[in-house]
Amino acid sequence: MRILVTGGAGFVGSNLAKHLESPVAGDHQVVVLDNFSSGSFTNLVDFHGDVISSGCESHEPCVRCDVIFHEASITDTTVTDQLLMMRNNVESFRNVLHWAARWNSRVVWASSAAVYGNQAAPNKLTDTPHPLNVYGYSKLAMERLAYLWSKEHPELRIVGLRYFNVYGAGEGHKGKFASMIYQLAQQMKAGKRPRIFKAGEQKRDFVSIQDVVQANVRAMQVERLPQAAVFNVGCGRAGTFNEVVAGLNKVLGTNLQAEYFENPYAFFQNHTEADISDTATILGYRPQYASIQDGILAYKASGAL
Ligand SMILES: NC(=O)c1ccc[n+]([C@@H]2O[C@H](COP(=O)([O-])OP(=O)(O)OC[C@H]3O[C@@H](n4cnc5c(N)ncnc54)[C@H](O)[C@@H]3O)[C@@H](O)[C@H]2O)c1
Repeated sequence: MRILVTGGAGFVGSNLAKHLESPVAGDHQVVVLDNFSSGSFTNLVDFHGDVISSGCESHEPCVRCDVIFHEASITDTTVTDQLLMMRNNVESFRNVLHWAARWNSRVVWASSAAVYGNQAAPNKLTDTPHPLNVYGYSKLAMERLAYLWSKEHPELRIVGLRYFNVYGAGEGHKGKFASMIYQLAQQMKAGKRPRIFKAGEQKRDFVSIQDVVQANVRAMQVERLPQAAVFNVGCGRAGTFNEVVAGLNKVLGTNLQAEYFENPYAFFQNHTEADISDTATILGYRPQYASIQDGILAYKASGAL
């Protein structure tokens, strides 16, 4: 198949693009489209397909693609310019949906656990969304757009994946928006005490990039799908920041105590945890790394931590 990956220079997109063109995934012909606003060329050095350096809002690839993985997005969650966020995320997605309608392609796209806001965990698809910032709201608007679009185009399959906190190789370019696992590891490798918010008991559903790729591939392959389906993609259990520090100490061979500081954010997700029952039942998703310890071990073994 020919597959388009938007945001393919980014963390998730580049992992997905490289997996899809590998023999194990079926040697697909993969085209990356990215405006390089936050992604990095370093993620694409070992990618062999075509790379279109452009924004989804301005460029239509001239070749038909069977599947579109739409990962392109502003991923800086602290951006407060609402028009910028909405144009970049929602209007780009509208454009991508036009291509899908013309090409009759399946669309698998990245939503976010940010649509839940600070709802009580576990986060279920039936929860009323309550995003705390315009980033989260843009993802919610995209979900609603996908729903409306699929009513007008019932032949299309559009699958939204609400990623939780993704970690793994290829996230280094994200700086302070990389996962806590990556950021704390950098501090500890430099011999510094890991700095976390008081008292380190905030909980996150940390999901490995391998499991996120797995969920995407399943969303591409599964035949029977509800229209404009949305699924949670997490590991299905929450770990605390203190557990991350303990896991890193073990894997890095350090013995550094956390340094706690006041959380400066008025709006902060204190506990995220994906209810992945639909993801398991409908997509057949089975996270390989349900424990932080195993995930950190595999991350270190990949040479990227
Ligand atoms: N990493 C996570 O923990 C996480 C969690 C929830 C959701 N997500 C979503 O997953 C997707 C991938 O995130 P990521 O972690 O790989 O971030 P990333 O910043 O590494 O990747 C996003 C990519 O999109 C590109 N881009 C942005 N706007 C574009 C546009 N208009 N046209 C073309 N390219 C554009 C950027 O240059 C970048 O390469 C995003 O949609 C993000 O919102 C990620």
